[in-house]
Amino acid sequence: MSELQHLAGKHILLGLSGGIACYKSAELVRLLSKAGATVQVVMTEAAEQFITPVTMQALSNRPVVSSQWDAREPNNMAHINLSREADLMLVAPASADFIAKLAQGRADDLLSLMALARPIERCPLAVAPAMNREMWAHPATQRNLEQIRADGAFLLGPGNGDQACGEVGDGRMLEAAELLDEVIALFQPKRLAGLKLLISAGPTFEPIDPVRGITNHSSGKMGFAIARAAREAGAEVTLVAGPVHLPTPRGVKRIDVQTAQQMFDAVLPLAASHRVFVATAAVADWRPAAAADHKIKKDGSGQAPSIAMTENPDILAAVAALPQGPYCVGFAAESQDLVTHGRAKLIRKGVPLIVGNIGPATFGRDDNALLLIDAEGEREIPHNDKLTLARELVRGIAERLLHTQRP
Ligand code: CTP
Repeated sequence: MSELQHLAGKHILLGLSGGIACYKSAELVRLLSKAGATVQVVMTEAAEQFITPVTMQALSNRPVVSSQWDAREPNNMAHINLSREADLMLVAPASADFIAKLAQGRADDLLSLMALARPIERCPLAVAPAMNREMWAHPATQRNLEQIRADGAFLLGPGNGDQACGEVGDGRMLEAAELLDEVIALFQPKRLAGLKLLISAGPTFEPIDPVRGITNHSSGKMGFAIARAAREAGAEVTLVAGPVHLPTPRGVKRIDVQTAQQMFDAVLPLAASHRVFVATAAVADWRPAAAADHKIKKDGSGQAPSIAMTENPDILAAVAALPQGPYCVGFAAESQDLVTHGRAKLIRKGVPLIVGNIGPATFGRDDNALLLIDAEGEREIPHNDKLTLARELVRGIAERLLHTQRP
């Protein structure tokens, strides 16, 4: 499955209630469709004041419905027919008024009628609030939100920042790309629900002087994909990242570091409070013994300076040696003999699972193949995009946790 098709086969009922954020929903339809979903747009009368059904029909490639008296439905029951086909009902934007309606179970327009008539087990409801910050903060709105959450609705956002009214605060609707990620996450099985996962990712950078350093080609993509997949699976994720150019996956806590020592100092105090540690970072084995305070200059002799090196701490081995430590997963990037080197690493680092890959074939790329090596044997996760691989790895970790008692 390509990364673009993570919603293949899903049918989404996208409801728009009245709000300026309706313009973002046009982009959302495009993104959902590109991700492989089919989208049926339903609009309230108020939503039609902000964006036309023509736009939404063109983007979704389906006629928009907005009235419960729509005679195009042969049995005149759009609220039943459309909600029976859907895998998810997403209301974006959800106005304060519409959330109030949901909280009370009112059904005086097609969209609220559908929310009430959908089969609650098969078609979950997700709500992306969009409103002014005062409306958001109002006790009535907060009370209504609590109620719809208790009734099983998933709350997506809101975001924080500039608002259409010129004020700044909570209540903005999430951006279309953020909503897409949230929708993809909703469909993932919650294999790690309630667990805390710590991940190291990216390269480290070991300074030689203020302008130079030693680093490697690790892009951090695999570690970031695992962070996203683990969060999708319901985990609380902390990502300790070396210098990389990647956006933080939604809902993931990120700590940026530069050197191996900084990564060690960030990871070790957190490790014992986490259930799982996944070490994807390509940590430099050595660092210059002392970084020069000023740029090292050519001295005219033609002699290259010699740089004394010292070994970096092994983060994974140190975490694996903790008495109350997490379940540890190591990565082995090798250039040959993956099984032999991976198995040796499993023993040397004292970890229950090593994930092997052929280093030069993976650095910086969006796809890869993995080999899971543990005491039982080896299992290949075949070639795929890194997010799909990460989800498979998360499944592998979750299965192993079932058989692992916390020490
Ligand atoms: N690792 C770590 N701290 C280090 C070195 C490695 O946490 N100082 C972790 C990596 O994140 C990875 C695993 O250990 O999960 C394997 O790292 P690798 O560099 O491939 O192994 P090495 O122990 O350095 O062995 P070699 O250099 O012989 O391949």
